[in-house]
Amino acid sequence: MKILGISAFYHDSAAALIIDGNIIAAAQEERFTRIKHDKNFPLAAIAYCLQAAGLTIEDIDIVIFYELPEKKFQRLLKTYLSFAPQGYTSFMKAMPLWLTEKLYQKQFIIKQLASFGKFRAERLQFTEHHLSHAASAFFPSPFEEASILVMDGVGEFATTTIAEGKGNQLTLTKQLNFPHSLGMLYAAFTYYLGFKINSGEYKVMGLAPYGRPIYAELIFKYLVDLKADGSFRLDQQYFNYCTGLTMTNQHFDALFGAPPRQAEAVLTQKEFDIAASIQAVTEEVVLTITRAMAKTDGTGNLCLAGGVALNCVANGKILKDGTFKNIWIQPAAGDAGSALGAALVAYHLQQKQPRVISEQADAMHGSYLGSEFSQVECETRLQNQSAVFAVFDDETLIAQTADALATEKVVGWFQGRMEFGPRALGNRSILADPRSPEMQKNLNLKVKFRESFRPFAPSILAEDVADWFDLECSSPYMLLVAPIKDELKIPMSEAENALFGIDKLNVPRSTIPSVTHIDYSARVQTVHQQTNPRYHQLLTAFKQGTGCPILVNTSFNVRGEPIVHTPEDAFICFMTTDMDVLVIGNCLLHKHQQTATIADKPTFAPD
Ligand SMILES: [Fe+2]
Repeated sequence: MKILGISAFYHDSAAALIIDGNIIAAAQEERFTRIKHDKNFPLAAIAYCLQAAGLTIEDIDIVIFYELPEKKFQRLLKTYLSFAPQGYTSFMKAMPLWLTEKLYQKQFIIKQLASFGKFRAERLQFTEHHLSHAASAFFPSPFEEASILVMDGVGEFATTTIAEGKGNQLTLTKQLNFPHSLGMLYAAFTYYLGFKINSGEYKVMGLAPYGRPIYAELIFKYLVDLKADGSFRLDQQYFNYCTGLTMTNQHFDALFGAPPRQAEAVLTQKEFDIAASIQAVTEEVVLTITRAMAKTDGTGNLCLAGGVALNCVANGKILKDGTFKNIWIQPAAGDAGSALGAALVAYHLQQKQPRVISEQADAMHGSYLGSEFSQVECETRLQNQSAVFAVFDDETLIAQTADALATEKVVGWFQGRMEFGPRALGNRSILADPRSPEMQKNLNLKVKFRESFRPFAPSILAEDVADWFDLECSSPYMLLVAPIKDELKIPMSEAENALFGIDKLNVPRSTIPSVTHIDYSARVQTVHQQTNPRYHQLLTAFKQGTGCPILVNTSFNVRGEPIVHTPEDAFICFMTTDMDVLVIGNCLLHKHQQTATIADKPTFAPD
C-alpha cells in the first residue's frame, strides 16, 4: 500500500511517502524552491517522493492531507466573531484570502495533484492536525506503548494534545484549545523580542542563558494561568493574535515597559532577561504537563511532536526530571513532520495495518529521507560550475577531511540523503573543530553571517557520549540539551562572570568551547554507525588524530537560506562564505584552488 502524506499552506510544507508502512522518502518544499519555510503546495517535494520510489501519482493508493481545512476555517471564523468588533479590520483583510484559498482547499489540492497525471479525487483523504503530529511522534518511535504529548501554535482548534499509543492504536485523551497555546505564547515573545515568528524561536532559546528569568513571576501573574494538571489559560487582553496582525498589544508593552524591539536593534540585558523568563515559563508549563501525564502513564515512554518539541532545552529538562524513563522526539517535530504523520494515520488508523517495531532503532532511518546524488552526478554538476576538485577513495577522503578539521579548517560536508526536519545531521552540514575558542564567533560571523550569540551544536560518536556529557541516552536528532561533564568545565572567574551578556561568549568554558553554551550545556547529536556510517567514520578519524570524538555541526546554509539541497547549492554557499574546504561525495575542494566566480550570488531575506 502506497501512501503520500502532505502538509501545506501554513509553514514548512512537506511531502512524505510510505510503502507498506515503511518510510521511503520525506522532504520539505523549501529545499527545492529555496524559499525558507515555503508554505506553498509542495509540488517539488511530491515530485521528489514519487521519483525516489519510481512511482507515478496513479500508483498512489491514498493521498492524505495533514489537517481538516473546513474545521480550521471554522476556528478562524469563530475566533473573529467572538472578538468582534476588535478584529474587524484584519477579518476583512483576511476574508477574501480564506474564501479563495482555505475554503476551497480540497479542490485546489485535487487540481495540484492532477498536475502529476491522472489523479482519482476519491483517493484524497484528510485527517486532524494534532492527530498527524501525534502519529508522527508515536508510530516511528521504538516503543510498543507510550504516552504522547503534542504542543504547537494551533492546528484546527487544538494547541495541546495528550494521547496514548499502543501497537498500531493511537487514542487522543486530552486537548487544550486555541487561543490557549504554548506555541503562541513563545511566538508572542519571539515577536516582542524583534525576531520573526516561526523561525526566531531558536534565537530566543539561544539568548535565554545570557539572561536571568526575572520576569517569570510577572508572566505567571498576568499572562499565563497554569493549573496543577498542566492545563493553562492565556489572558487575551495582552495578546493580539486573535484579532490583529501582530502578536502582542499595548497592554503587553505596558507590562514590560517598552514597545517590541525593532529587528536588528542592539540586544540589551533586558532582552536576555525576557528570553530567560519565557524559556523558564515554557519549561515549567511543559514539566507540569509531563508530570501530570506520568501519573497515569504505565509505560515509562514519552513521545513528543509539534513545534514546541523543537525546544531542545525544555526537552532536556523533561529527560532530567526523570518522570519518563525514555523519550523519543520526532525529528521533524514541526508541521513538515505532519506530512509523514498523516500518511501513518492513513496506514495504521484508517487502514488498520499492523506496526513493526524494532527495539534497536526507530523507523526514521536517521531522518536521512531526502534527495541524494550519485558520485557521477556530483562530479558532473561540479564541473558545470567550473569547480576545481580532486576525487579520492573513501579512506583518503576521510583522512584528508579529518586533517583539515584538526587544523581548524571549516568544512562543508555534503553526503548521501538530505535530512528531513530542521536540523542538519551530518549529510548537509558545515563542520569544524570544537576545541577552538574562536570558532563559534568566526562561524557565526564569517560563514553563517548571523548573530554572534547563536550557539553551535556538537556531533559526537554515540559510544563516547557519556564521557563528555551528562546524557545517558542517545540523541540522534539533536533535540536534547545536556550539560557538559564537570571535569571538562573551565570555571569562570568572578571578573569573567560579571561580563555583560554576549561578552561572556569569548570566555572559554570547557575544553570544547565552541559547542559549550554559556550555561555549560550543549545541544547534542549522537552519531550512530548504523544510521550514518560515513559521518561516524569521519568522527572516528578526527578522534584518532586529536583525541576528541566531537565536531561542531551546523546546518549547511547561510542566514535566511534553507539548508542546501543540490551540489550546486553547496558549491555556491562554499564560494560565497569563508568556508575553507568542501567535500561532496568523494570530491574534495579547497577554497584557495578555486577559480570560478559566482555570477548571480543568491540573496536571502534575514531570518
Ligand atoms: Fe502544528
